[in-house]
Amino acid sequence: MKILAIESSCDETSAAIVEDGRKVISCKILSQIDIHKRFGGVVPEIASRAHIEAVSSLTEEALNEGNLTLDEIDAIAVTYRPGLVGALLVGVNFAKSLAYACHKPLIKVNHIRGHVAANYIAHPHLEPPFLALVISGGHTSLLKVNSFCDYETVGITRDDAAGEAFDKVARVMGIGYPGGAEMDALAKIGDKNSIVFPRASVKDAPYDFSYSGLKTAVVNYLHNAEQKGEEVNKENVAASFTASVCDTIENRLNHAICDFKIKKMVLAGGVSANSHIRACVEELCRKNKVDLYLPPLSLCSDNAAMIGAQAYWEFLGGNLADITLNANPVNDKFVN
Ligand code: KG4
Ligand code: ZN
Repeated sequence: MKILAIESSCDETSAAIVEDGRKVISCKILSQIDIHKRFGGVVPEIASRAHIEAVSSLTEEALNEGNLTLDEIDAIAVTYRPGLVGALLVGVNFAKSLAYACHKPLIKVNHIRGHVAANYIAHPHLEPPFLALVISGGHTSLLKVNSFCDYETVGITRDDAAGEAFDKVARVMGIGYPGGAEMDALAKIGDKNSIVFPRASVKDAPYDFSYSGLKTAVVNYLHNAEQKGEEVNKENVAASFTASVCDTIENRLNHAICDFKIKKMVLAGGVSANSHIRACVEELCRKNKVDLYLPPLSLCSDNAAMIGAQAYWEFLGGNLADITLNANPVNDKFVN
């Protein structure tokens, strides 16, 4: 079954064709980073306009690259939640129109499920049940994936996502947007024990995350140094900040492995590209004899291939949408 998938939830427009949930026939991505860079973050209105300009041509390119016509496509899939509402609406309306005009089934896909499904592409034999940690610019969620379409949220961020903290700290340090990858490189050179930043936990919610306090602590550290005219060692800040993020992740995963008797774990999302987080989770899984699945770097950040992969399982599960489908920006514990 060949699914044409559309992704437009944030600042990447993407169209992809995926066969049977595992094989990527083509995937075109147009990042808006260069447009948003000068503002230091994504400007929602500009993102929506840029999606409108790109979505038709990217879809055509994905079909051409796959040497396919729309007649040969079996269904149209689209990210409908969570994300920026104006950005999501572009993809949703485009996909609805295409499905309606071409008499194809329409499949709605949750973006977080999509991130997890990037691993089904990379690991052809991977199947639920497993524990998944989705860490990205907009999400930090710990999930029990009971089956391809049955998601249970175990923990979620109470404030900022991990990626938001990476990007904010990077911005205050004068690194370009988004700063995650450069923070990763700086942290490799720095001393992670040089500065002690907080490791937040949430009372009575051992699996929830909170990154706004850490973000503020690092920003305060940088501002204090600036006021005193002291030079900041960016490598040490990046390494110490990353160590704090790694510890909070390791703490939740460690408890979950014991509490839920986890044997299989999956990482996903843009921040799962971080080499320090990967290394720390790899070590944790090795010690606990848990099989760990990581997406390749190319599938960590937003793309439509992961949406097409999840769409296949949604189709098999009968989770179809129709012309009434609307975008839903809400990022809560309901990963449906
Ligand atoms: O998954 P994604 O493309 O978008 C959302 O769904 O939010 O994730 C983008 C995020 C950005 O915050 C970016 O800084 C972060 O992923 N990121 C990284 C790394 N590469 C990308 N964060 C830490 N280390 C990295 N190597
Ligand atoms: Zn994402």
